Amino acid sequence: MSSSAEEFDRRARGEFARIGKTRVHRGELLRHPVYTRFLHWSVAISFILALISGFAIYSPWLFHFLTPVFGGGPRTRALHPWFGVVFEVFFLFQFINWFAPMAWTSVDSKFVRRLKEYATNQYPVEPEDTDFFNGGQKLYFWSIAVSGLFFLLTGLLMWFDNTIPRWVVVISYVLHDVAALVMLGGFIIHVYEGTAQQPGTFRSMINGTVTEKWAWTHHPAWYRRVTGRDPREAYEREKRRQTERERSV
Ligand code: HEM
Repeated sequence: MSSSAEEFDRRARGEFARIGKTRVHRGELLRHPVYTRFLHWSVAISFILALISGFAIYSPWLFHFLTPVFGGGPRTRALHPWFGVVFEVFFLFQFINWFAPMAWTSVDSKFVRRLKEYATNQYPVEPEDTDFFNGGQKLYFWSIAVSGLFFLLTGLLMWFDNTIPRWVVVISYVLHDVAALVMLGGFIIHVYEGTAQQPGTFRSMINGTVTEKWAWTHHPAWYRRVTGRDPREAYEREKRRQTERERSV
């Protein structure tokens, strides 16, 4: 990442911290500052608008239901590329914002190898080397980066199709739809992981904080780095507390 992009990101974090507030109470940790939350929800809203308007013009059946939302067929067709452009712009800023913590490491390769155990909740806490983001979150991020690039290139080719050879436009249609399906699949898993599957995660994108318990459960290496405390010890202490509570009931 170039130093001017890093400098821009540092300044933007500072500016947004001045405009919005994040209250971190006792027993909580700051997870996502105001700037990150602003970018995430801007990406999410523009993505969903691009997705819905895209589906509306993709399928004749959905056309009937969805185009009235945007004011009719021609307007949906006109708005869709612009929703896409807004999504790409916000994602570019988010890419810069999360580039460093999304760097792939050997810990993430290990995560991918034990994906089944993760998905079936076999352990009460994540392995101790799981840092700010786990391998699954990084996979999602990089899949958006790659699909987003395909989206942009193929979208532009379809948008300006009168100056492009026909066969290029036809291939662009197929690649655009494949990229959309990859992102849709990731999006469904992402919403499940960020809400029902991991209670306490969603609030990190609303008020910016998580509980310490959430941190040592899901991201022990990050917990150790920011608090200087041992996540294993915190887990054992909580287990003892629970056993004592159960005994006293
Ligand atoms: C609309 C429903 C959505 C919900 C409820 C949601 C929720 C969340 C939450 C709670 C986090 C923080 C996870 C953590 O700190 O560990 C997060 C992170 C993230 N979100 Fe979303 N999000 C949504 C939509 C989207 C969309 C549409 C995109 C992109 C197309 C997106 C991209 C990301 C990425 C790349 C991350 C970081 C990696 C990860 O946690 O998977 N999100 N989201």
